[in-house]
Amino acid sequence: TKQLRIGLAGLGTVGASLVRLLQMHGAAIGARAGRPMAITAVSARDRKRDRGIDLSGLAWFDDAVALAGSADIDCFVELIGGDEGPAREAVEAALKSGKHVVTANKALLAKHGNALAALAEENGVHLAFEASAAGGIPIVKTMREALAGNRVTRLYGILNGTCNYILSRMEAEGLSFAECLADAQRLGYAEADPTFDIEGYDTAHKLALLTSLAFGTQVDADAIYVEGISAIAPLDLKMADDLGFRIKLLGVAERTRTGIEQRVHPTMVPRDSAIAQVMGVTNAVTIDADAVGELTLIGPGAGGDATASAVLADIADVAGTPPRPPFGWPVAQMELAERAPMQRH
Ligand code: HSE
Repeated sequence: TKQLRIGLAGLGTVGASLVRLLQMHGAAIGARAGRPMAITAVSARDRKRDRGIDLSGLAWFDDAVALAGSADIDCFVELIGGDEGPAREAVEAALKSGKHVVTANKALLAKHGNALAALAEENGVHLAFEASAAGGIPIVKTMREALAGNRVTRLYGILNGTCNYILSRMEAEGLSFAECLADAQRLGYAEADPTFDIEGYDTAHKLALLTSLAFGTQVDADAIYVEGISAIAPLDLKMADDLGFRIKLLGVAERTRTGIEQRVHPTMVPRDSAIAQVMGVTNAVTIDADAVGELTLIGPGAGGDATASAVLADIADVAGTPPRPPFGWPVAQMELAERAPMQRH
């Protein structure tokens, strides 16, 4: 079989990890998927920056949209980020020109996922996004494939590593919010604009995708009630602790009588519960479903190699399997509930 030629746009933390991991393990991944693969072209903003990776022999594009439309690639990997601009234009150009797309861009999919999924279906190509929710945790494939036989009643999780890292360190070391945020940025966990992390929007973007996968709804981040952690003070954590609780930023999607309710907010969780044990940049997703019962996946929610692991799984899918509807459902089946703030008592 002919080699899968991959065009990679974006050489940040995840992109650099992807280049390195494919150079190391590309032959084995290709053998497993049934088709050889290699990155053949890249694009990024700054050509000269030293990323500690070997880019020799790869075609260089200054423009991601030109790379996406190039006849010399079969699969476009989008690691640019942002819900508009070059990321959106390039993904659209790739799908329209019949290329498979692999993306880690939850903001883009939360906003344009329905339209992009339709575009992928029309063109008979993959739109794969394992890396877009909960980093290295294989939650997208779990929902689409492993739990395809279930009726999900509820899904909730810690979906933002930066927030969980901040809350964990504030609690354990009594550090200030600002200090912990600066460390999260330094370690490469936070988004380019950390407001997305700390105000809950990143969690909401991921939740919108998981809700659609779990319940067959349209992707609709605007239907989510969102509250972040920037108003949480060390005293709140102390008070929660005195009562036997920890505070976690949770994304929750639940089947209710009026539809699927989605919400993101700091939540008190009993200290001895499974989700309360999840500390640091780690993410966790719990699923309640009729056949399997309750299931929790725990793992790295951010970071270069862990997120690249999810991108590689998608690339293997592209190389080895025919495309299916991106969200695992050909049509939206369930109604989403109206957005409503939490009831306070
Ligand atoms: N900023 C995100 C987080 C990165 O902290 O979880 C992964 O999407």
